[in-house]
Amino acid sequence: MIDRIVNTTVDDKAEDKEFEQSLRPHNFDNYIGQEKLKANLKLAIKAAKKRQETLDHILLYGPPGLGKTTMASVISNEMGSALRITSGPAIERAGDLASLITSLQDGDILFIDEIHRLNRVVEEVLYSAMEDFKLDIMLGKGPSARSIRLDLPKFTIIGATTKTGSLASPLRDRFGMIHRLEFYDPSEIQEIIKRAAEILNVKIDNQASEELASRSRLTPRIANRLLKRVRDYADVNGDGMINQSLSLKALELLDIDDKGLDVADRLLLHSIIENYDGGPVGVETISALISEDRQTIEDFIEPYLLQIGYLQRTLRGRKVTTKGYQHLGLKNTKNNLELI
Ligand code: ADE
Repeated sequence: MIDRIVNTTVDDKAEDKEFEQSLRPHNFDNYIGQEKLKANLKLAIKAAKKRQETLDHILLYGPPGLGKTTMASVISNEMGSALRITSGPAIERAGDLASLITSLQDGDILFIDEIHRLNRVVEEVLYSAMEDFKLDIMLGKGPSARSIRLDLPKFTIIGATTKTGSLASPLRDRFGMIHRLEFYDPSEIQEIIKRAAEILNVKIDNQASEELASRSRLTPRIANRLLKRVRDYADVNGDGMINQSLSLKALELLDIDDKGLDVADRLLLHSIIENYDGGPVGVETISALISEDRQTIEDFIEPYLLQIGYLQRTLRGRKVTTKGYQHLGLKNTKNNLELI
């Protein structure tokens, strides 16, 4: 994948992880946005506590960077439970899952990121673990093989995925709560930036936080990352205070435009316009045109372009909208491209 400042994956660099963790809210009160989801979760947590039961399994879905892992850690704090974090690709064999689950205690929460990437065998073991808190293990091979059934602690799975569609329905059905994380409002992103600046002890004025918010693709992870880069710029080229003119210069250097689009977004839109007259065109063709794999396009580039109405998904493929043309300074005349 190309290196993008607006990349929504967490970098493996320790510095990046540490940075994210330092800004992560710990409870519902300091978690900004996702109001509907928070209301639902608060209710479920209150009810579970009142009945002294463990929380139902929860599936969180939505584009990367919107706070699925953060929300899982908030839930565990609010429940007062221990949180274990793993991911679909990290659980390679049924035995990996068995050792993980048998080490849990009653009430613990197991967060499985990218749960759609679990392999089938592991997924099937997970079904009965989630449903009956039992684990069926095969001992031995061939005619002498036998299976034993282990009782498991009453734990909660929080699964995260970018799309519910890519989850097998028997697995999806085992979640008592399924919630989508929405893109944030620009005003919420601005609040998140102000909060992060306070934690990082950086001074930022109102205009600058608004400017950064408008370019953060409605995504907290990007907002915090932009803040970090602009802080660097302010430390080197200014007196450390982040104001609007300084932010604009820093953002220009990063090649992020006034809607938060970077080179990859603009390349995608331009390619559809120039080669397919604005579309519709299939995602595989787009993938070949811009040399990005389909998954990257679907998970990291398209969701924001769809959200802000620059791109449309139709049965026949992706289409650039009139708004998308306008953003690039082009007129949507279908066969005839003119500069406005
Ligand atoms: N940092 C990242 N996401 C956040 C959120 N939703 N609220 C507060 N701080 C955040």
